[in-house]
Amino acid sequence: MSTVNVAIDGPAGAGKSSVAKAASAQLGYIYVDTGALYRAIALFVTENNISDGDIAENLPRADVSLRFIDGVQRVFLGERDVSDLIRTPEISMAASRTSSIQAVRDYLFETQRKIARENNVIMDGRDIGTVVLPDADVKIYLTASAEERANRRFRELAGKQDCPTYEEILKDIIERDYNDMNRSTSPLKQAEDAVLFDTTGMTLEQSSSRICELIREKLMGDDK
Ligand code: DC
Repeated sequence: MSTVNVAIDGPAGAGKSSVAKAASAQLGYIYVDTGALYRAIALFVTENNISDGDIAENLPRADVSLRFIDGVQRVFLGERDVSDLIRTPEISMAASRTSSIQAVRDYLFETQRKIARENNVIMDGRDIGTVVLPDADVKIYLTASAEERANRRFRELAGKQDCPTYEEILKDIIERDYNDMNRSTSPLKQAEDAVLFDTTGMTLEQSSSRICELIREKLMGDDK
């Protein structure tokens, strides 16, 4: 029996992970956050002071894997769970840079494909519908204005130690959008057959229930 694969792509901070998590819980699918793989590579490169030119030859040493514990994704470097360490602004920026290296993308390609072959998944990233799972059953391109995305992130971080200003977050988002959309390898773009979904002004509940509807409509149409 073939598995159901849902691809959700879109820019940083569009709410992909929150929406995909909520929708996969409702549908009983596994949620796969592929950004965590790129972040784990960025952490590996940063911790080991590896220059961009030397990344390719060092990748096999990184030993990146995703494990699902009670259905929740954790990312590992060897036997070390680095799921929390990869969430800093420094690693966000480093991941944006290292993810543009073709050898890094090639290295992570099969890890992502294998999970999708073996499980019903909602997989989010930048190139899932275009490169990783071009035959996905459902493809969604999730976006929101840069200002809305910066606002959401600002509200999430408000009150935490070293919380950046709204302006700093917005600048970061615009810079990451530019990097992700303009790199030569697998740039972020909407797949031709993806449904465009703009969540500006919508709550998480509204967005995730609309996504579940979209998935059900599409799968019913395909008789899956
Ligand atoms: O979704 P995120 O912010 O955790 O992703 C971190 C970085 O990884 C981001 O700059 C883009 C990159 N990425 C990618 O190039 N392809 C993916 N499928 C997922 C993430």
